[in-house]
Amino acid sequence: MKLDGAVAVVTGAAQNIGRSIALALADAGCRVAAFDLNKELLNDLGSDQISVFQCDAADPDQTAAAITAVMAQFGRIDVLVNAAGWICSAPLYNLLGRPAGRHDLVLWEKALRLNLTTALVMGSCVAEQMIRQRTRGVIINISSVAARGNAGQSAYAAAKAGCNALAMTWAKELGAFGIRALAIAPGFIDTSSTHGAMSEERLKDWVGKTALRRLGTPEQVARTVLFAAENDYLTGTVIELDGGLKL
Ligand SMILES: NC(=O)c1ccc[n+]([C@@H]2O[C@H](COP(=O)([O-])OP(=O)(O)OC[C@H]3O[C@@H](n4cnc5c(N)ncnc54)[C@H](O)[C@@H]3O)[C@@H](O)[C@H]2O)c1
Repeated sequence: MKLDGAVAVVTGAAQNIGRSIALALADAGCRVAAFDLNKELLNDLGSDQISVFQCDAADPDQTAAAITAVMAQFGRIDVLVNAAGWICSAPLYNLLGRPAGRHDLVLWEKALRLNLTTALVMGSCVAEQMIRQRTRGVIINISSVAARGNAGQSAYAAAKAGCNALAMTWAKELGAFGIRALAIAPGFIDTSSTHGAMSEERLKDWVGKTALRRLGTPEQVARTVLFAAENDYLTGTVIELDGGLKL
């Protein structure tokens, strides 16, 4: 796919990884629709090439309305990047937890909504437009190395494994229309969300387990998105961008 002149929708675009992806796509010549819940952070992203949409990507009505607005403004959608998400942790059973040590169901439902339902709702809305317009587009889900299983992250790991499964399912379902789907699974990326999700000591421990002994950057994730969008034979796969963490 030629990115120059293409139209891209990016969720979770207000900050960190999603923001870097939106900026990199705009740099590559895309017109970008930047979606996020956070209106304040979105606003300073707006430019000639980037239009911002405050939207809860897990809400079917809000998403349908925002996609209709994108279609009215740009006339097509070539690329969807589902980067909206929420990094969260909870043990399956906390021996010291009182009164209930069992996994928090409120956290479970929020984790699935923000990390997985967002991808499903956006994917179905955007696939509809791609199919109707015969656009040979691409859908990229940002999952995580946690999809392979991460102690203390049942909900996040399950949601991200779901993002991988959706990408593979959509590759099979939409391939006949020339639409591609894949996932990018980053390891530990240097963002405020990563630093907020764990102590610096724990993070240092993870860096020590990474072959390259350093965190990745949001820009490196964004460059992987550009590569995946441009390569017309890439579909139904999970690109693991983790500095060798899983080795
Ligand atoms: N930071 C990392 O190390 C890392 C590693 C692997 C995967 N990821 C994944 O990459 C993505 C981006 O990570 P990040 O570190 O930039 O996270 P972040 O928390 O900094 O940004 C996520 C953005 O998603 C938005 N969002 C959440 N729910 C939404 C919804 N329902 N509708 C619209 N927007 C919504 C938030 O407002 C926020 O701006 C996430 O899916 C995350 O799980 C991050």
